Amino acid sequence: MLSYRHAFHAGNHADVLKHLVLTRTLLALQRKPAALCYIDTHAGAGHYDLGSGMALKVAEFEQGIARILARSDIPTLVEPWLEAVRRLNPDGELRHYPGSPAVARHFMRPQDRMLLIEKHPTDHALLMKYFGHQPRCRVLQDDAWVTLKAQLPPPEKRGIVLIDPSYELKSDYRQTVETLQQAHDRWGNGVYLLWYPLLTRRETDRMLDRISTTGIRRVLRVALAVRGADSGGLWGSGMLIVNPPWQLDTELQTILPWLTQALEVPPGIRGTSLDWLVPE
Ligand SMILES: C[S@@+](CC[C@H](N)C(=O)[O-])C[C@H]1O[C@@H](n2cnc3c(N)ncnc32)[C@H](O)[C@@H]1O
Repeated sequence: MLSYRHAFHAGNHADVLKHLVLTRTLLALQRKPAALCYIDTHAGAGHYDLGSGMALKVAEFEQGIARILARSDIPTLVEPWLEAVRRLNPDGELRHYPGSPAVARHFMRPQDRMLLIEKHPTDHALLMKYFGHQPRCRVLQDDAWVTLKAQLPPPEKRGIVLIDPSYELKSDYRQTVETLQQAHDRWGNGVYLLWYPLLTRRETDRMLDRISTTGIRRVLRVALAVRGADSGGLWGSGMLIVNPPWQLDTELQTILPWLTQALEVPPGIRGTSLDWLVPE
C-alpha cells in the first residue's frame, strides 16, 4: 500500500530543480518542429493546492517556489517555467503549484502527446480530473515499473521520459536502475530525466554507481544541496539527464549559481553542481 502523497512536498526545493530541468529540456527539444512524446512514469496529482492541509503541514513550498517568485532578478532561462506557475495563479498570489504533468502540458504543442502514469488511486483520480479529458493526453492507473517498457519506443521516436519515483520502498532504487536500463535498451535515443533524493541513507549512491555501470552513455548529473548531509531528512536532490539535448548543460551552468542564491542556500553548503556521471 502506497502512503506517499506529493501534496505534502509540492513546490519544495526538489520540485524547483526538477521542474526547471524539465522545462529547459522540453524547450530544447521543441527547437525542432517534429512531434514529441512526453511520458511521466510517476505523475502524482498534477496540480497542487498550496492552501490545503497537506501542503501547509510543513509548508515546504515556502523554502522553494515562494523564494523563487520573490526574486526581482529572474533569469530569462527561468522565466518560461514561471509562466507555467503564474498561469495557475493569475492574480499574482501563490495558491497553486503545477506538478510535472501540468508543467509539460503548459508547453505542449498541437503535434505533441503525453502519457501520465500514476499508481496511487487518489492521485490517479485527481490526474484524471485535470487531464483525462484533454486532447492528446492519456492517463493510466498502473505500476510504472511494469508498464513503461510496453510504451517504448513511442511512435514519435522523439521525446522525454520523466522517472520521478517516491523511493518509498527500498526496492524503488533497484527498480529504477532496471527500468532505466530496459527502457534504454528499447529506446536508446529517448531523453530520460531521472530524479533522485539526497538523504542520509546510502541507497542513492549505490543506485548512481549501478547506473554508471549499465553501459548507458551521455548521462549528465545536476544536483542541489540545500543543507548539510548530516542534517537529516531530504537535504537535497539531483537529476540524471540521459541524452541531454544540445546546450542543456550550458544553460544549466548559467542558471545554477542563481538558483543557489535564490533558494538561500547557507554559506558552506554545496548548493548546485553539474557534471557528467557518464560522458559520451
Ligand atoms: C514524487 S511523486 C511524483 C511527482 C510528480 N512527478 C511531479 O513532479 O509533480 C511520486 C509519485 O509516484 C507514485 N508512485 C509510486 N510508486 C509508483 C509506481 N510503481 N508506479 C507508478 N506510480 C507510482 C506515487 O503515488 C507518487 O504520486
